[in-house]
Amino acid sequence: MSDTDVKDVKDGKNGKKMKKGKNGATLFSPMSLRGVTVRNRIWMPPMDTYSAVARDGKPTPFHYQHYMSRAMGGFGMIICEATAVAPEGRISPCDTGLWNDDQVEAWRWIVDGMKQAGAVPAVQLNHAGRKGSTGCFGVGFAGGSVPFEDGGWQTVAPSPIAYGHYAMPRVLSVEEIHGIVAQFRDAAARAVRAGFQAIEIHAAHGYLISQFLDPLSNERTDEYGGDLAGRMRFLVEIVDAVRSAIPEDMPLLVRISATDWAAGGWDLDQTVEVAKVVREHGVDLVDVSTGGIVPNVTIPVKPGYQVPFSTQVRDRAGVPVTAVGLITKPKQAAKIVARGEADVVEIGRAALREPYWPLRAAYKLGLSTADAPYQPQYVRGAY
Ligand SMILES: Cc1cc2nc3c(=O)[nH]c(=O)nc-3n(C[C@H](O)[C@H](O)[C@H](O)COP(=O)(O)O)c2cc1C
Repeated sequence: MSDTDVKDVKDGKNGKKMKKGKNGATLFSPMSLRGVTVRNRIWMPPMDTYSAVARDGKPTPFHYQHYMSRAMGGFGMIICEATAVAPEGRISPCDTGLWNDDQVEAWRWIVDGMKQAGAVPAVQLNHAGRKGSTGCFGVGFAGGSVPFEDGGWQTVAPSPIAYGHYAMPRVLSVEEIHGIVAQFRDAAARAVRAGFQAIEIHAAHGYLISQFLDPLSNERTDEYGGDLAGRMRFLVEIVDAVRSAIPEDMPLLVRISATDWAAGGWDLDQTVEVAKVVREHGVDLVDVSTGGIVPNVTIPVKPGYQVPFSTQVRDRAGVPVTAVGLITKPKQAAKIVARGEADVVEIGRAALREPYWPLRAAYKLGLSTADAPYQPQYVRGAY
């Protein structure tokens, strides 16, 4: 077969139209947030790759390859991994960062590449708090704290309560809390300079912001603790600070754990209240996850197990949401969006094993090649 023997665009057996759901959206319909339009509702959630191996917070050619594959695979928004706002805000010594200008330059070609492939690049800004300074494959000490002599650091937290067997954190002063709010603001400004088109604040999974939210990890008696208004103050100040540093037309996302799965801790009702407040402060979408805040809890994991939390947040707080967690099959994903259970689905681990998941989903769901998010170079290899 010569290189001109095949039709450029196949109609395939697939030319049928996807069913629209009650909210009029399908998995492949675009979604606009402020001034940004995302090509579809299949997004890649943040997944830390612990691959800034020089321990300088700079993404590497690995990150380029990693994110470009998923951009070329058709994902709509790609939320780059937990990226630290300060060196001591890293989960591991090999996390990426945005605390200096060298990191801005290192991100830029990756961000540009994703855009050229039609994806919307976003970045998740994080401070790990008491869950920082932990091991990873590049450093060792997996599942535990990295000792100071091996490049670890003193972690910080709202209260002197360690996470499981991790090292005991030091309590943050009010002045230090204000400093971290400013670090989020400055990292957001750097993300804008690197070309990112959306920012996500990591307020989930037991990292610093969720340590403040959860009464099981926040026993402060000052203005950053106590009732829900006190415990959410840190997050709201970060939202305001980040919003002040990014363009008006740039979407701002917040990832929240909707429950810590522990009695007396963080729960759905508090999540809904926080979602309402941050929406008023300029957050455009809540990325709903669960867990990670307190150790040794039982999580009833099964396909789509977090979707009901997303639906509740969407319906009760009136804010667009993602659904994430064991969404692996195209039909499963399509139903979630069509039924209005969430505005967007995120494909995490399945995207690690299958970077072109959206292209296969388009085929399975009956889209024509022309309607699927193929790179022009790859159309002739379409399903
Ligand atoms: C390797 C790996 C790294 C992750 N890192 C992050 C992260 O940096 N930030 C975050 O919010 N969630 C992180 N997560 C959670 C995912 O974003 C996602 O919520 C979770 O994997 C459930 O979705 P899934 O079942 O589709 O994988 C990570 C998950 C994995 C598997």
